[in-house]
Amino acid sequence: MRSRMIFLGAFALVVVVMVIAAASQTGSPQSGEASLAAKSGHTPEAVPRLKRHLFAKTALYTRSANGMQATARSLEEQTLDVTTVLSNVGGYDWLRIVNTAKGIDGWIMEHLTSAVPDMKIPKNGLLPIGQERVDRYAALPHDYKPADLVNLDMQYCRIRQIQMRREAAEAFARLHRAAKAAGVSIYGFSGYRAYETQRQLYLNRITIGERHRQRYVARPGHTEHQLGTVVDVVGPDIRHAAMHSFDSTPEARWLRTNCYEHGFVLSYGADNRIPTGYGYESWHIRYIGKAAIPAWVRTHLDPGHEVARRYAGR
Ligand code: DAL
Ligand code: ZN
Repeated sequence: MRSRMIFLGAFALVVVVMVIAAASQTGSPQSGEASLAAKSGHTPEAVPRLKRHLFAKTALYTRSANGMQATARSLEEQTLDVTTVLSNVGGYDWLRIVNTAKGIDGWIMEHLTSAVPDMKIPKNGLLPIGQERVDRYAALPHDYKPADLVNLDMQYCRIRQIQMRREAAEAFARLHRAAKAAGVSIYGFSGYRAYETQRQLYLNRITIGERHRQRYVARPGHTEHQLGTVVDVVGPDIRHAAMHSFDSTPEARWLRTNCYEHGFVLSYGADNRIPTGYGYESWHIRYIGKAAIPAWVRTHLDPGHEVARRYAGR
């Protein structure tokens, strides 16, 4: 009897945790992350206190037996209170917006919204390097632009000149020289990206027919590129830029084990244990500073990983 009650108690706890996790889920659900709504046959879930930022003008939809229908009413970009989430109706996830003062009661597509950040930008305009949290679930303020961006010297760039925060740019120049000494040439082709640039990239990507849950272009506010500490790299052959053909190049192989020595990590590495919601990118490296590397390696890589073994005890 007692063990049965413990079992039921544990089961109830798991259900409560799942409900809270689903309510606080702010990114686009990935396969394997089906929300409770999807599992329970599309029963709408109440999500008190969920705020989302709508980053593109969109129609307000009504829900009927035939699914969702666009109304003549449209909503401008704004931050909205969400009362209910509904997964996978017509292939999309939906958010219900009710604002009686503005006469709004309807649904919008979840993938046109981003998380509302709860962080404050420090007075000096700089988030501390290596401690910033931004991923599919957590966003940066739309107006965050690091105050210490510099142009990366063209000798380290391909395709276009890029900008990075000063410390990250200097570290990248050192990484480039170390790689060159080892016989590989590594250049940056995408660095700092403003919120608005990312917004255009994302909207272009989903309007050219890429799946709205696509995993290679973050929503505005949700990209590490806005930090100014990230660089997408390529070798001498720019046809590999942002392509999986880069994965097997000598440059990608060198980065996989050596970027850490220069304070960079592979945010979306093939070996990462912590899911980010994004696909594997062998070309996307983020500067977190040398001091933060041992802790990052401990939490993100298996203890048996070549890099983890090198950092054991550091
Ligand atoms: N490609 C990564 C996910 C980004 O857009 O930041
Ligand atoms: Zn990138």
